[in-house]
Amino acid sequence: MKVIHTIAELRAAMAGQLLRGFVPTMGNLHEGHLSLVRLAREAVGAQGLVVASIFVNRLQFAPHEDFDRYPRTLARDCELLQGAGCDIVFAPDERELYPEQQGYKVQPPTELADILEGHFRPGFFTGVCTVVAKLFNIVQPSVAVFGKKDYQQLMVLRRMVAQMALPITLLAGETTRSAQGLALSSRNGYLSDAEREQALLLSATLRRLIARWQAGERDLAAMEAEAMQTLRDAGWQPDYLVLRRQHDLGPAVDGEPLVALGAAKLGNTRLIDNLEA
Ligand code: PAJ
Repeated sequence: MKVIHTIAELRAAMAGQLLRGFVPTMGNLHEGHLSLVRLAREAVGAQGLVVASIFVNRLQFAPHEDFDRYPRTLARDCELLQGAGCDIVFAPDERELYPEQQGYKVQPPTELADILEGHFRPGFFTGVCTVVAKLFNIVQPSVAVFGKKDYQQLMVLRRMVAQMALPITLLAGETTRSAQGLALSSRNGYLSDAEREQALLLSATLRRLIARWQAGERDLAAMEAEAMQTLRDAGWQPDYLVLRRQHDLGPAVDGEPLVALGAAKLGNTRLIDNLEA
């Protein structure tokens, strides 16, 4: 496995192999990321190249967010990637990826990008789309793999690929969870042991939203408000807990596949999760 820091060296290392599977990450890797690397390998086969990128993208962090303290663990990440069958790690520094201020940006449509995560993190999806589009141009993958853990991100990127006619197949990986059910996340490292236990309440509350819908309840506003209150009562600061249809994250409708999505702060740590119904 090669670890490469510049665009020029990456292009040279990839030359001659057009079948490329790509997994963009911000590092501090866990089993969830590695499952995506394995999916990329399955997609391109033994002959194809599997490339993972590690770059903490300043553009998708608001000034008050955790850009500075986001964990940077390149050496360990590379060990894990090697074990997962990755061929090339692309780990540019900021000067390599953003040598000048990135004035050209990819702005996703408001109806998808200004709701839920985008409502609470203005500009987040513009930052994500901009860096992913740039990484796509650098890596030129045949296949790119993203996790359902970041459900709205996956949807926003799918639409970008479709609307921009990018010749890339997007694959979605299921959310990897701890034995107790906590969705793995680099930000889980911020949690104390006690908070790790409490953190299970987020997915449990999402599960309960789905169960109530499946039991025939239809007062969504009341159900969602109660879900928010459940978290508040337990000392969380929830941003949203909602039941939406999978297709476009519009309101839940009978007979359509649904997804419960939530984001909430536990102490100083903001967690997100979702469950498909
Ligand atoms: P990051 O949070 O590092 O996640 C990288 C990829 O891993 C994303 O596709 C994310 O959905 C996936 N992932 C995270 N936790 C997962 C889990 N428990 N199970 C399965 N997949 C999981 O998402 C980003 O980085 C950035 O926004 C990025 C796309 C790299 C752009 O900067």
